[in-house]
Amino acid sequence: MYSSDCNLILTGFMGTGKTTIGKCVAQKLKRLFVDTDDQVMQLAGKSIPTIFAQEGELSFREYEAKVCQALESSRNLVIATGGGTLLNPQNRARLQRNGIIINLMAHPKVIQSRLAHTQNRPLWNQDWQSLLQQRMPFYQSFSNQLDTSLVLPQEAADQMIRIYQMQTT
Ligand code: S3P
Repeated sequence: MYSSDCNLILTGFMGTGKTTIGKCVAQKLKRLFVDTDDQVMQLAGKSIPTIFAQEGELSFREYEAKVCQALESSRNLVIATGGGTLLNPQNRARLQRNGIIINLMAHPKVIQSRLAHTQNRPLWNQDWQSLLQQRMPFYQSFSNQLDTSLVLPQEAADQMIRIYQMQTT
C-alpha cells in the first residue's frame, strides 16, 4: 500500500490522453497538476521541437531526467509524463518511489485521429506506428492499465482515481 499523499503518475504513448485526463484527475482530487513536458520546456527555455532540432533527442532525455530527479521527493501531485520519460529505468524508479503509475493506452486509430493535427511532437512525424510497437512491452509492463479509447476524459479520470484509491491507505 502507498500512503494517501503519494503522487498519481500517468504514462502511455502519445495521444493516449495523459495531459487531458491528468488535468481532470487533478481537478477532482484538488491537487496540483504537473506535466513533465512543461517542466522540460521551462528548464530548457525553449519548446520541445526546438530542443529536438537544436540539441537532439539525447539532450531532451537529459532534461527529462533532471525533471524526474526534481520530482523524486514530491507528494500530492498528479504528474503526466511524456510518452518516453519512464523508458529510462532511473526515471521510473524515482517517480515510483512516491507514486502510483497508471499506463494509458488507446487503439492506434484513436491515437491517429487525436494527433492528426499535432505540431509539437517531433517523434510523431517519424514512423509512430513502429515506435508504438517497439515500446509496447514497456507500456504493458505496468500493473495499472487504463484503456481510454472509448471513454470521455471525465470518466477515465474517475476510473483512474478508483485505481489509485484502491492502492492507497
Ligand atoms: C515523446 C512524447 C511527448 C514528448 C516528446 C517525446 C515520446 O510527450 O515528451 O515529444 O518519446 O513519446 P506526449 O506523450 O505528452 O506527447
